[in-house]
Amino acid sequence: GGEGHIEDFDFSFEGPFGTYDQMQLQRGLKVYTEVCAACHGLKFVPIRSLGEEGALGYSEDEVRAYAAQNFEVFDEELDDFRPARPADNFPENTGVGAPDLSLMAKARAGFHGPYGLGINQMVKGMGGAEYIASLLTGYTGETKEEAGVTLYANTAFPGGWISMAPPLAGEDVDFDDGHSNSLHHESQDVAAFLMWTAEPKMMARKQAGFVGVFFLVVLSVLLYLVNKRIWKPVK
Ligand code: HEM
Repeated sequence: GGEGHIEDFDFSFEGPFGTYDQMQLQRGLKVYTEVCAACHGLKFVPIRSLGEEGALGYSEDEVRAYAAQNFEVFDEELDDFRPARPADNFPENTGVGAPDLSLMAKARAGFHGPYGLGINQMVKGMGGAEYIASLLTGYTGETKEEAGVTLYANTAFPGGWISMAPPLAGEDVDFDDGHSNSLHHESQDVAAFLMWTAEPKMMARKQAGFVGVFFLVVLSVLLYLVNKRIWKPVK
């Protein structure tokens, strides 16, 4: 039992000024498409969102081509499968019982301490992306059989044994931008991509926060000055 070991990866989207790294999201999508999608789905994520503002920076044509080339969806009207379109969501995938990854980066916390109080989340963030990257890099190579199921030792997975075989070994995909495809980098890139699927509007949320705080500061100054003026005759 107990929580696993989480490595504190550096992500571009950390902190109040953090933003997604568009090239990293593109690389993460590639890892997801070529490796993870074999077992996992992203059923809550519309494919067209890849082309939205603040996302992966793909054009409408690129998104359409990506959808058609990589996924088939069941069309109720046709009563048959057809190539996916931007209006479709990424398919779900329940084949081997792997959980859907749409919201995984927000469903898991990387940091729990000290003493399970979660206080260091205030400094380090929730750590969902760190958890995913640590999980992918956390295999020790040890395995065991339990009730006919192979379990793999993993230092990040709570309990230490996971039924997912190591999905990445390093050099699993070739990145178009020439970025390193070591196990560490592939893991970090797909974790960043899954942070984006779980919170595609993170940048808009942070921006709205700034506008809000800015107005509160202006309001505070005005209230201070008004207060001074109102009480001036009494003083
Ligand atoms: C579970 C990520 C590839 C099969 C998981 C979990 C994550 C994850 C985050 C949840 C762990 C938890 O519950 O805390 C990924 C990523 C992949 C990938 C990012 C690609 C790089 C695969 C592949 C397969 C697979 C290719 C099948 C061959 C499973 C299964 C589980 C799982 C069966 C449930 C494990 C358990 O609860 O014991 N995966 N996965 N995954 N994944 Fe994957």
